[in-house]
Amino acid sequence: MTQDLALNELVTSAKASFNLAAMPADLENAKAQFLGKAGRITELMKGLAQLPVDEKKSRGAAINLAKQAIEAALNERRQALADAELDLQLKAEALDVSLPGRQRAQGGLHPVSLTLERIEAIFGSMGFDVAQGPEIETDWFNFTALNTPEDHPARSMHDTFYVEGGTESAPNLLRTHTSPMQIRYAVQHVKKHRAAIDAGERMPEIRVIAPGRTYRVDSDATHSPMFHQCEGLWIGENVSFKDLKYVFTDFCRTFFESDDLVLRFRPSFFPFTEPSAEIDIQFQTGPLAGRWLEVAGSGQVHPNVVRNMGLDPEKYIGFAFGMGPDRLTMLRYGVNDLRLFFDGDVRFLSQFSS
Ligand code: DAH
Repeated sequence: MTQDLALNELVTSAKASFNLAAMPADLENAKAQFLGKAGRITELMKGLAQLPVDEKKSRGAAINLAKQAIEAALNERRQALADAELDLQLKAEALDVSLPGRQRAQGGLHPVSLTLERIEAIFGSMGFDVAQGPEIETDWFNFTALNTPEDHPARSMHDTFYVEGGTESAPNLLRTHTSPMQIRYAVQHVKKHRAAIDAGERMPEIRVIAPGRTYRVDSDATHSPMFHQCEGLWIGENVSFKDLKYVFTDFCRTFFESDDLVLRFRPSFFPFTEPSAEIDIQFQTGPLAGRWLEVAGSGQVHPNVVRNMGLDPEKYIGFAFGMGPDRLTMLRYGVNDLRLFFDGDVRFLSQFSS
């Protein structure tokens, strides 16, 4: 009995030292004290040899029970330590799915870019090419080639941003309109088809729009020093004012999604067209109904301009127009201050992204 008590105490002290082990390595050390080669249980087993046969059996069974109890306690602690470790790992790697997500702000196109895309799509569907050109222009392309005389007021230093380059009498400048693209594009087109033209064959028609940034010394609610224009040009052997009216009316009605939109071609003057017209539009419904709103300048391309394109004005004829995408955007969305487009205030701009 006393010996069984001692065995019970041995089991209790094994459990206690197992429970003290905080790490798996500590536990293996504790195990050696009881179950190892020189451990307490092993010692007791060795002692069996000295006992008489009849005691040997019952004592052996008792030691075995104690050994099994210690092994069970060891396994239990092993499992507990493994569980705790897994627990720690899980906690460290835990994702808190209740945290608010990190939001990525949704970007969007600028309202004027949306308008330019729209203009390109509509004219694209009518067979117009889309061309880009330089914002720093020479005097020749911006003025002279467009039949704009030396003393024209648009050439005043006050009206235009002059930059380095060019000659003293004809310095380079930030283009004041997209009209120089008429010449640049046509010259390339003519160059490409020169042989055919000289052989008297038919030149494929020039049909292009040229959207882009333009600059003038001007700043108020409806003018900004930087603004956008979109040029249009259609040259062929048989292109008339009637075609201009048809094309531009179709464009405006499609752009504003308004079939009953009315257009007015008001006589005007531009050096590079003759005759020239300002194009006004009138909505029949909505907040702007009944008012005439100017949207573009236009006209039949002046013979001198056709000549500067490298073509014979007796044979080639056509029309051009220049419109203001900023103004079209204001009309489409009901914005009354142009400067809002260029302030970069996201609260304003985000209203246009879908
Ligand atoms: N370039 C002119 C401007 O900025 C607009 C314009 C008028 C363009 C008539 C044209 C045109 O192509 O035919 O005021």
